[in-house]
Amino acid sequence: MAGFDDAAFYGDRWAAVYDQRFAGRDPVAAVDFLAGLMNGGGRALELAIGTGRVALPLAARDVMVHGIDASQAMVDRLRAKPGGDAIRVTIGDMAEVGVTGPYRLVYLIFNTLFGLLSHDKQAQCFGNVARVLEPGGFFVIECFVPDTTRFHRGQAAAVQEVTEDSAVLELSRHDAAAQRVTTQVITFDQQGIHMRPVAIRYSWPAELDLMAGQAGLKLRDRYDGWDRQPFNSASPGHVSVCQPR
Ligand SMILES: C[S@@+](CC[C@H](N)C(=O)[O-])C[C@H]1O[C@@H](n2cnc3c(N)ncnc32)[C@H](O)[C@@H]1O
Repeated sequence: MAGFDDAAFYGDRWAAVYDQRFAGRDPVAAVDFLAGLMNGGGRALELAIGTGRVALPLAARDVMVHGIDASQAMVDRLRAKPGGDAIRVTIGDMAEVGVTGPYRLVYLIFNTLFGLLSHDKQAQCFGNVARVLEPGGFFVIECFVPDTTRFHRGQAAAVQEVTEDSAVLELSRHDAAAQRVTTQVITFDQQGIHMRPVAIRYSWPAELDLMAGQAGLKLRDRYDGWDRQPFNSASPGHVSVCQPR
């Protein structure tokens, strides 16, 4: 049976509910930010393009967007949407970046870099992004800042939602040595029990900057979010922009 180390695992297990579950995550600010980096023209590449939550509205702004994703089930959802047929998508592992480029912009958002479950895989991804970026191009990542205080004795349990006939629980285990969190999002409803698994390997911003440096990239800007507020020690997440050195 496929497991967390299978690149398609997350997408294949979440595709059926992904758009509904993240419907509240408005892509407008991200699209504005990314479109602003494309003023000079060129092509953009979304790693882990998923169902096109951001790629489709970005393409609607006249940006030529390509994508990579490991999960055919996620890409099928993208294809079923208006404009989804027009986006070139390569099925593959985002760590390998199996395209030639060059791209003015490569972006990997919504914490998805952390879906690569080791330092080495994340560093491999940075290295391959550097290979396909054009001179002066941008690599944009959006990640949360790890907050290990939410775990007690390596565990966390949270109630995400309760309705008249359903409840959604999130149960997690934290491995501090591996910087890894394994979660089941469990829905109880009148159809039964549904499990949606997620595994991530988190990195602090400083580790990401080291990976960038080793790949021949350098951090240009780090913001608190898509609205370009300054990043600071209280920021729960960051949008970081790297460029070739
Ligand atoms: C949280 S979704 C993000 C989708 C999209 N970027 C967005 O912002 O809505 C994660 C996506 O990453 C893809 N994915 C996870 N691991 C991957 C890997 N190793 N290579 C390529 N795609 C991967 C999944 O299939 C899924 O489409």
